[in-house]
Amino acid sequence: MENYLIEIAHLVLRYFHVVAGIAWIGASFYFAWLDNSLQTPPQEKSDKGISGDLWAIHGGGFYEIAKYQNGPQQMPTTLHWFKWEAYTTWITGILLFSLLYYVGADANLLDSSKSDLSKINAILSSLASIALGYTVYRLLCNSFLVERSYLFTATIIVLLAFWAWGLDSLFADKAVYIHIGALIGTCMAGNVYHIIMPGQRYLVAEVEAGRTPDPKVGLKAKRCSIHNNYATLPIIFIMLSNHFSHTYTHQYGWLVLIALIMIGMWIRHFFNLKQRHINKPSILISGIAAFFALMLAIAPWSSFAPRTNAKQVSNQQAWSIIEKRCTECHSATPRSAMFSSAPAGLMFDSMESVKTQSEKIYTRTVINQDMPLANLTNMSSEERQTLAIWIEDFRLKNKGM
Ligand code: HEC
Repeated sequence: MENYLIEIAHLVLRYFHVVAGIAWIGASFYFAWLDNSLQTPPQEKSDKGISGDLWAIHGGGFYEIAKYQNGPQQMPTTLHWFKWEAYTTWITGILLFSLLYYVGADANLLDSSKSDLSKINAILSSLASIALGYTVYRLLCNSFLVERSYLFTATIIVLLAFWAWGLDSLFADKAVYIHIGALIGTCMAGNVYHIIMPGQRYLVAEVEAGRTPDPKVGLKAKRCSIHNNYATLPIIFIMLSNHFSHTYTHQYGWLVLIALIMIGMWIRHFFNLKQRHINKPSILISGIAAFFALMLAIAPWSSFAPRTNAKQVSNQQAWSIIEKRCTECHSATPRSAMFSSAPAGLMFDSMESVKTQSEKIYTRTVINQDMPLANLTNMSSEERQTLAIWIEDFRLKNKGM
């Protein structure tokens, strides 16, 4: 029953996290587009203090949008703020993260082949890595570096690489990705909470008092929102990354992540420029090319080689390995205390289902080697080898050879 309740909490948190994330990133994309697309207004509008204007059509109506950089002469009665999208995404994200990686630390956070941290120490290190990472980011944002965007970006990338490498020496592969995601998400939500919102409250107060706001405050908030904008594509990938075990289980998974983050930011850069009518397809093309070059570089080449081992493995031998190491979880009635139903809906209750899923089994137990989960059922490398031979033979037979 307890596991079932955890499953429900997981569903609710993940669902709200995704919905809130869509709202937040959607708003971020929209406002970035808006800002980049504003045009110089006609004279009568700029006389009123309008610094940029734009017309749009959507949902069967026309919209006239005007931006007052320094606020309107008079505050409107209703002013819409955008903050709860960010806060809700962060809160549900941290709760989801805690549920999966702290409550579920044995399966998702700890990796005894990398470090022998106790559960409590692992959780404390995990929290510290995020808190410290955020502090470093805030300090950097207050330093001279922030005005030199290329140098700032390079520093952030080097620091992220250092963080990912450090996390990789402590935690399970999948957890490394999510930690970097949690750190980036915390910086993004922190930007909203610590910089953007106070900046906007200041702006409103100044306008209400009839004073001209100090443009530096607006500029600082704008810079944070640009940082958030560049983080969007990378963080969406990280949110989805646990579906792509070939990335995080790679020997240099942490470096693969950094490369993917850079590619995401580079592609975002293309769109940001394009919205300002600076069309540089070379950025998009090089970004896509870099992605495929990376996928090529991390391809599991050895598994494509024809097998040379003459050893034969019987169905019975393969079956007994699966039964011993997998069906504790992957069964219609899991024996594991962690699952009330088969994880990923994958059940190995008959030889038929093992055969139909054999390619998936091969990927996760032979190539990526991230199944059994956290190797909780102690599968040996000989068993992986045996299973590999059986599946490779099965492949040949299926091809009619
Ligand atoms: C302790 C529980 C546990 C054990 C034991 C376990 N798995 Fe898994 N397995 C999971 C969980 C949880 C997932 C879903 C998360 C993921 O894909 O990383 C999963 C996912 C998978 C997937 C991906 C399914 C899909 O459709 O994407 C495959 C394949 C798989 N397991 C194979 C195996 C094999 C083969 C074994 C035995 C050698 C095994 N697992 C042992 C928990 C377990």
